[in-house]
Amino acid sequence: MDARNPLRDPRDRRLPRVPDPCALVVFGVTGDLARKKLIPAIYDLGNRGLLPPGFVLLGFARRDWGDGDFEQVAREAAEAHSRTEFREDVWRRVADCIKFLPGSFDDDNAFDALDRTLDELEDSHGIGGNAAFYLSIPPVAFPVVLKQLARTGMADSSQRGGWRRVVVEKPFGHDLSSSKELNSLVDSVFGPTDVFRIDHYLGKETVQNLLALRFANTLFEPVWNSNYVDSVQITMAEDGGIEGRAAFYDSTGAARDVLQNHLLQLLALTAMEEPVSFDSEALRIEKHKILKAISLPEDIEASTVRGQYEQGWLAGARVHGYLDEKGIAADSTTESYAAVRLGVETRRWAGVPFYLRTGKRLPRRVTEIAVIFKRAPHLPFAKTDTTELGNNQLVVRVQPDEGVTLRFGSKAPGSAMEIREVSMDFLYGAAFTESSPEAYERLLLDVLLGDKTLFPDHEEVEASWTVIDPLEEFWQSRKPERYRAGEWGPRAADKMLARDGRTWRRP
Ligand code: BG6
Repeated sequence: MDARNPLRDPRDRRLPRVPDPCALVVFGVTGDLARKKLIPAIYDLGNRGLLPPGFVLLGFARRDWGDGDFEQVAREAAEAHSRTEFREDVWRRVADCIKFLPGSFDDDNAFDALDRTLDELEDSHGIGGNAAFYLSIPPVAFPVVLKQLARTGMADSSQRGGWRRVVVEKPFGHDLSSSKELNSLVDSVFGPTDVFRIDHYLGKETVQNLLALRFANTLFEPVWNSNYVDSVQITMAEDGGIEGRAAFYDSTGAARDVLQNHLLQLLALTAMEEPVSFDSEALRIEKHKILKAISLPEDIEASTVRGQYEQGWLAGARVHGYLDEKGIAADSTTESYAAVRLGVETRRWAGVPFYLRTGKRLPRRVTEIAVIFKRAPHLPFAKTDTTELGNNQLVVRVQPDEGVTLRFGSKAPGSAMEIREVSMDFLYGAAFTESSPEAYERLLLDVLLGDKTLFPDHEEVEASWTVIDPLEEFWQSRKPERYRAGEWGPRAADKMLARDGRTWRRP
């Protein structure tokens, strides 16, 4: 056993490195993200022996709390949401390094106190000047916090003898121009290698597996192009609604909330060329090329759909319509569903439509990438009923039931040459004994290790806004279509595909 980390078995080579001693300062630590994702992820890292000795979690928020109050809240969050089993001995170890500082973002004194606390932590915990600042706060508050970090010199690693990093949560801006402003502000305060933009989809194991599937095998890459691929469908469906985030969601909408980031990143990983290595710069170059090569449909009206859910039924329960959700104005035109057909203007993908769709209050939570192949050019089964035979499909299931499915035609048992569609399944849960880390667990560890491979850079973010801005502009003066909660989106979305002679996959 490792004396510094008794929970860690050094013989296990698959375990990642343990970061240097450091402090993780979380702004907005009382929010939903911190409670449901960040604190549980820190507990899980602790449970896997991946927190360094001398690690400190420092919560900062406008609450009249002491360290003990925060510890209690953090404990409840870890008990309720951690991935790994909750163990008292692990919690004691994590709890020992929890601190809280009260303050508002415009309060100079509070930030001076934070600065002093980080200095003191060098003596008490040996953090060696290393600190990461996590902005788990609304985007409007980014500038004031960044300015405080600059004013106090806390962002400047050269003054502090260790590294200083910042983690920015999406959405990175509201459109291209605000994202450029935000990017230049962040870049003026932190060095280029110290900015970590979180798109938590990149931390999902199955999303990374897409690269393994494509580039570690010979089987798929030869057919991964317009000669064989008919179309690609990327779906991110949620059965949940806006979950108490009315103010944020109503001013954001589905396209800015997830299409601009999660779905375009999935598209980029699906369509990109092989990177020269699996490091952050090589990946960034290839993803950026694809994001720049995305083309919008000529007829935006015919090739996009926005929707808003009406009341309906989900899992046997009646659910409100979007306009009846608490905090949503009765005349809101914000979309809770968006579907769009995009092109990728490269030789590999010429003419292949990429259909992206996302929505809240759809029948179930599922995210998948379906590569749909062209039909066989000739079927030599003259007397055979092939109507049941669809296109071959390779489906990467990002969540739930993480895995990959290949759908193809097979002879049904019997004397007739009857061809039916069958599935070949790879399930993460069945193939591997170890469970996948949560996306935030992986990404937080990477922040502390300084590994930027799974973080989009500002060029990718800006290229993504270039795709979204014209759509938003077009949609601005139009009302969203309606769909019942519990249905797979508005009828217009089915018609959109029908016009292209296709149908949406039913995940
Ligand atoms: C977030 C969006 O980025 O992703 C939410 O802001 C959405 O609206 C969430 O619900 C979905 O994440 P996951 O990991 O549950 O698919």
